[in-house]
Amino acid sequence: MEQGLKGALGLTGPEACLAHYRDWAASYDQGFATEMQYLLPAHVAAAFLGAQGQGPVLDVGAGTGLLAAALRQMGFEDPIDAVDFSSAMLERAAEKRIYDGLFQTDITQPLTLTRRYGGIVSSGTFTAGHVGPTALPHLLAVARPQAQFALSINRRVWSLAGFDDALEALGAQKRITDLQLIEVEVYGAAAAQIDSAHAGDRALIALFRAA
Ligand SMILES: C[S@@+](CC[C@H](N)C(=O)[O-])C[C@H]1O[C@@H](n2cnc3c(N)ncnc32)[C@H](O)[C@@H]1O
Repeated sequence: MEQGLKGALGLTGPEACLAHYRDWAASYDQGFATEMQYLLPAHVAAAFLGAQGQGPVLDVGAGTGLLAAALRQMGFEDPIDAVDFSSAMLERAAEKRIYDGLFQTDITQPLTLTRRYGGIVSSGTFTAGHVGPTALPHLLAVARPQAQFALSINRRVWSLAGFDDALEALGAQKRITDLQLIEVEVYGAAAAQIDSAHAGDRALIALFRAA
């Protein structure tokens, strides 16, 4: 299996995804995120706070905890829970001691979490080879009324995987309101030296509220 980012974006199913992140967890922060100047978690955190997002927050596909770390760095003090189906990634996240609860769960299935969230955030999870729009209803089911969402969706899969249609349908059904899209760069300039195929990747941050 191909290592790192290239391998991640070509994943073909949940078992391949789990195996990939088991091998990638140890080097994810110092290798991938540092070398590629991975900006996305900070963009999502800023968008969430800019929309006056409040906790308790659920970080979806939390990985090693970079999004929660960005929120904390920006002064956010409300409780944050992590959900991810990779125990290896969650172990790295736990070491940072910034999460209240860490839950090993597959978000493509209905969630059994007992807390109801005022904010739901995600960076890097809705991308090629990862999670599609079928997860959105599961997230809405654990959201408080008017909960603020800030979810990054890679530009490559926005239409291809049907995120555009899924969000439009949720709006038409009045299950979400106030949809706003912010386009951002996923990586900084240094990424061009490391991986020219993905260095220019862009993502849409979907900001919306639960009805
Ligand atoms: C690219 S990483 C992003 C991690 C972190 N949010 C960040 O921005 O660094 C994608 C994460 O999604 C998780 N993931 C992929 N499919 C998942 C699923 N079906 N349920 C829960 N987590 C999933 C992976 O285990 C991985 O930690």
